Amino acid sequence: MKQRLGDEAYQRLLSVIERFDAPFFFYDLDALKAHLQYMAEGLEPDITLWYACKANPMSAILKVLRNLGFGIDVASEGELHQVLNTGIKGNHIIATGPGKSKDYLKHLVKSGVGTIVLESLNQAYWLDEVCSELGKSVDALLRVQLSWDKGKSVLGGDAITPFGIDSEQWIRLDQSRTKNINIKGFHAFQWGNIHEVSKLENIWSATTERCLELSNKLNIDCEILDLGGGLGIHYDLSDKRIDFKEVQLALTKIKKKYRLKKIWMELGRYSVGESGYYLNKIIDIKEVRGRNILVCEGGINHIARPALVGEHFPVSALNKTTNSEKTFHIHGPLCTALDYLGEFNLPSNVQIGDWIVHHKVGAYGFTESMPYFLCHKLPGEVISYNGDLMIPRPPKTSYDWMI
Ligand SMILES: Cc1ncc(COP(=O)(O)O)c(C=O)c1O
Repeated sequence: MKQRLGDEAYQRLLSVIERFDAPFFFYDLDALKAHLQYMAEGLEPDITLWYACKANPMSAILKVLRNLGFGIDVASEGELHQVLNTGIKGNHIIATGPGKSKDYLKHLVKSGVGTIVLESLNQAYWLDEVCSELGKSVDALLRVQLSWDKGKSVLGGDAITPFGIDSEQWIRLDQSRTKNINIKGFHAFQWGNIHEVSKLENIWSATTERCLELSNKLNIDCEILDLGGGLGIHYDLSDKRIDFKEVQLALTKIKKKYRLKKIWMELGRYSVGESGYYLNKIIDIKEVRGRNILVCEGGINHIARPALVGEHFPVSALNKTTNSEKTFHIHGPLCTALDYLGEFNLPSNVQIGDWIVHHKVGAYGFTESMPYFLCHKLPGEVISYNGDLMIPRPPKTSYDWMI
């Protein structure tokens, strides 16, 4: 962390620790900016990258993306509100998500959202009615849920989920009831956190073939194919990372092979995951039936992902060096065995009061957690941008929010 941040920023971060004395997230927005620039550089004009802000909707992060020309994918009224408040215009917003009521669709259209991804026949007919009532038109994509031979993923994989509907259902679409919307193509995304570009390419090829089949059957031109997200990050302490230039090549290959006009993706994890850290304090150390246990001030109340998907954010000790390491099992403060953050080798001399760093928590961290359980403090959020350290959110005690 010290090498990545540079000495000055690192020293300032240590001073924040002293001031808060409570867990907090830290986002390195300079690293984020450099990473996003690398992603966008050399991208074909007809391949568009959006940002799925469910990964991290913090305004400072949205502003970095906006300033680099990324549009934003929202999946709730709250996300839409946040994105509009950050100064992002409706035509730079797409809306995905299975939970769209007619009222919400109306709100999206009134807010000028450029493209709405339809996830059911009801959504298609409601959107048409809304457009007719408001005298407006909007672009839409049909979200298709494909069946796969096998496999599980946070986005469903082969499982039956509420994301979109299958091709057979879309074929039942009564297009006489969708005259007020412009259906521009299809959206299909069922595989998350994939690490190999070759695997992504196979998924994208199979997806494209089946979306084009549906496009033929429905006689709806596939001007836009949205492949969603799914680029993984390595949850370890290495610098290993999917090279986005390889992703660009794979997308270009698919676009050419299937003569696609436009490919879209909305990336969450890969865009922001690596630029976030979560700083956590050790409050107890003990041995239980031969196992070394660290109890920390923050747990799945602040970073729930380990409990949700069983995958742990990598951990290092802050400011501690030694020649010998020991295996520790890290737990949070909640009264549930679910509050487990993983097994890690750490310096054997770590002590109560020491700080540890959970790495790569920029995506699916703060807003994916369960902060209210047991009324512990809410974590702070700290950013560094252009070398300046800023504190948009200090930690909050439960007295701030309990009623
Ligand atoms: C529709 C949609 N697009 C994109 C994403 C972002 O996926 P990832 O974080 O794998 O890039 C998600 C995540 O749930 C999603 O639901």
